[in-house]
Amino acid sequence: MAGRVIAIANQKGGVGKTTTALTLGAALTRLEKRVLVMDLDPHANASVHLSYFPETLEASVYDLFQEQQADGAIWERILKLGTGGGFDFAPGSIRLSELEVDLKERKNKGLILNVALEDMRERYDYVLLDCPPHVGILLVNALVAADLVLIPIQTDFLALYGIRLLFDTIRLLNRVLPRPVRYMALPTMFDQRTAACRRILRIMRDKLGDKVLETVIHFDTKFRESSAGGKVIFDVDPKARGAVEYLNLAREIVRNENA
Ligand SMILES: Nc1ncnc2c1ncn2[C@@H]1O[C@H](COP(=O)(O)OP(=O)(O)OP(=O)(O)O)[C@@H](O)[C@H]1O
Ligand SMILES: [Mg+2]
Repeated sequence: MAGRVIAIANQKGGVGKTTTALTLGAALTRLEKRVLVMDLDPHANASVHLSYFPETLEASVYDLFQEQQADGAIWERILKLGTGGGFDFAPGSIRLSELEVDLKERKNKGLILNVALEDMRERYDYVLLDCPPHVGILLVNALVAADLVLIPIQTDFLALYGIRLLFDTIRLLNRVLPRPVRYMALPTMFDQRTAACRRILRIMRDKLGDKVLETVIHFDTKFRESSAGGKVIFDVDPKARGAVEYLNLAREIVRNENA
């Protein structure tokens, strides 16, 4: 089976996109899957988390978008093999924010990533895309390339507001794409003791039904500890609740693919 591309997206900031990209990537690796994580965010949080500092890199995802024809050579310059998380990694760069202007005249500019990923779908079982928290050329490229859009939703009272925008974008794309974009929502930063959290989770399940994953990611301070230490949670505390839950998420995603 060709590799699956999963875009991790939500226009709301700070909901757990980057944490999900890195931790799910590490979890899938632990299930013996071949995984590539790509940093599509100009803030390059995922890259910095893994100690790849954009200003010191020879090439980044930015160069992939710049190439007229992304061949193996450009991938070899970009890819970091076997990072601390166990997966391969394509770092981002602040320069990704220039693409909006750079690509203005480019034909089929929404398809660049999809075309560039052609060979990567053979090389990997999963390609995870850490998306920026705003609509633009990068998010569109990610949604077009994606077999599945994974939407982390923070289970607090403001969280539902952010997903409306994303659903609008998905609806818009579905009108022009040959096949509709599949999406699943992932409840994150859940706190069982907080009434607002429990309410939001109920609303999510009521409104989105089976589009909400069974796995719920609870609030776990070990995630902060991990990013501060440049590690994934499995290397800080493999028994932490967050580690166990992202492994469950990985299993659920693999199960869904096979269903
Ligand atoms: N389940 C969790 N429990 C506790 N803290 C978490 C959890 N998930 C993420 N965090 C923390 O919340 C903060 C925001 O998470 P993250 O960077 O993954 O969000 P994001 O959606 O990628 O943000 P942005 O929109 O800015 O890119 C980080 O400090 C992260 O360590
Ligand atoms: Mg992020």
